[in-house]
Amino acid sequence: MDRSEVPAVTSSENESGASRRQFVRRVVAAGGATALAACLDGQGRDALDAPPGSDPETLPDRQHAWNQTLPTDSDGTVGRASHHVFLRLALTSAPNRTDRERVEAALRSVERALEWGPDGVLFTLGYTPAYFNRYEQSIDAVDLPDPDPITAITAESRIDVDDGDAMLHLASEDPAVVLAVEEALFGENDSLNGHDVGETLAPVFERTNRRTGFVGSGLPADRQTGLDGVPEGEPVPEEAPFFMGFRSGFRKSQATEDRVTIRSGPFAGGTTQHFESIELNLDIWFDDNDHEQRVARMFSPEHAAEEAVGTVGERLGAATGATDVTDDIHDHAREHGTVGHAQKLAQAREDGEPVLLRRDVNTTEGDAAGLQFLSLQRRMSEFTAAREAMLGERFHQYGLGPRQPNGILQYIRVRSWGSYLIPPRGSRALPRPSQ
Ligand code: HEM
Repeated sequence: MDRSEVPAVTSSENESGASRRQFVRRVVAAGGATALAACLDGQGRDALDAPPGSDPETLPDRQHAWNQTLPTDSDGTVGRASHHVFLRLALTSAPNRTDRERVEAALRSVERALEWGPDGVLFTLGYTPAYFNRYEQSIDAVDLPDPDPITAITAESRIDVDDGDAMLHLASEDPAVVLAVEEALFGENDSLNGHDVGETLAPVFERTNRRTGFVGSGLPADRQTGLDGVPEGEPVPEEAPFFMGFRSGFRKSQATEDRVTIRSGPFAGGTTQHFESIELNLDIWFDDNDHEQRVARMFSPEHAAEEAVGTVGERLGAATGATDVTDDIHDHAREHGTVGHAQKLAQAREDGEPVLLRRDVNTTEGDAAGLQFLSLQRRMSEFTAAREAMLGERFHQYGLGPRQPNGILQYIRVRSWGSYLIPPRGSRALPRPSQ
C-alpha cells in the first residue's frame, strides 16, 4: 500500500472548529503513525483515551450487530459512527490453523482494549468470493456470487473490482481510535488504549488498498471547499450529513439487522456485504438543478411539488414516503420527465419492507467528493435487484436514459466494487466453506 500519495499533515493545521475537522479528515485519510500522533495532538500514542473493552465472549454473535450501540434519534433512525477505514486485505500465504489462531487473537485484543460501540470501535471482517474459491468445497449455503459491477454508463471502465481476500471495516466516533486500531492490528504499535497487543494480522494479511470515510451533519459542508467536482459557492447545506445535501438511512427505509442476517447453514448469524466507491459530480448536481429539481431526482417529483422534504430531509420523520409514490412512477416518468432515486429503490422492497441495511459514508478520496456505499443484506441477489432498480432501464422508454433525470445516475461514477461474506463472530477468522 502506498501512503506517498496522501497529503502531508502538519501540526499548524491542528487548530479548532472547521479547520480542526478538515485536519481530522486529512489525518484519517493519510493513516499511519504520523497521522495518529497528529490526531492525538502530539501527545504520543498512549494518549488515546477511549472506553475500555470487555470479554470478547460477551459480545454479540453477529459481527454486524452495531445498531444497539449507535445513537438513535427521536424517530428511531439509527445514527452512524463518524470515522471509517476500509482495508482491502490479501493473504500472504494459504491459510492454516496458526493463521486462524493469530487472526482471532488479534481481533480479541482489540475487543479487550476498546469498548464495542462508537465511543470505542465497531468492526467487521468480511471475505470475498475469491477467498472461498481456493477451497474445493463451495459456499453453497450463502448467496455470494463473484462481483460483477452493475453500472449505467459503459464508459465506467475504471472500476476496480476487489479480487483480493478480505475487507476489514473499522468505525469509531474518535478518529484516533480507527487509526490506533489499524496500527495495532498491523504490528505498528504494541499497545492499544493501555492494553498490550499480542498477535497481529500482519503475518497473515497485507493491506492492498485503504479507503476512508466520514459522515455527520456539518462534515460535508466543512469539507466541500477545493474538492474536485464541487462547484464554487459552497453549495452543500451546513446541516447535510451527506455531500448530495440530504439525510439518508431513515428508520423505515432501512432493513433491520435481523432481516439482513443469514438464517441457516454454516454461516447462520452472518450477512453479506456490498461495498462500492462512488465519485460524485456535484458540479452539475448543484449547478444544473435547483432545490426542487434535486428533491425530485433524489426522492420523487411529488415530494418536490409538495415540498415534503425540507432543506436536507428534516420534514421527513421515520419514513421518506417513497412507497406512497412507487405506483405513480410511470406517470411521473411520462408527465414530469423525472423519477426519484428513493422512489425507484423502494420498488426493491419485499412485502413493503426494506431488504438492505445501508451504512454508507462520505469520502474525499483523491480530493474529490464521493460516497463509500456499503450495504448489508441476507442474500447478494437482494442487493443486485436493488441496484438494477436503481439503473431504471424500464424508464428508457420515456427518454430517461442514464444521463437524464433517472434518479441520480447522472451524477455518480462507480470507481470500485466488491462483495463479501461477513461471517458470525465465531467463524470470522479465515473461515472454511463448511466451517
Ligand atoms: C451517491 C450515491 C447515493 C446517494 C447520495 C443516495 C441517497 C439516498 C437517499 C437520500 C435516500 C432516501 C432516504 C432514505 O430512504 O434513506 C436513499 C434511499 C435508498 N437508496 Fe440510495 N443513495 C445512493 C446510492 C445508492 C446505491 C448505490 C444503492 C444500492 C442499491 C442505494 C440504495 C438505496 C435504497 C435501498 C434506498 C431506500 C429505498 C426505500 O425506501 O426502500 N442507494 N438513497
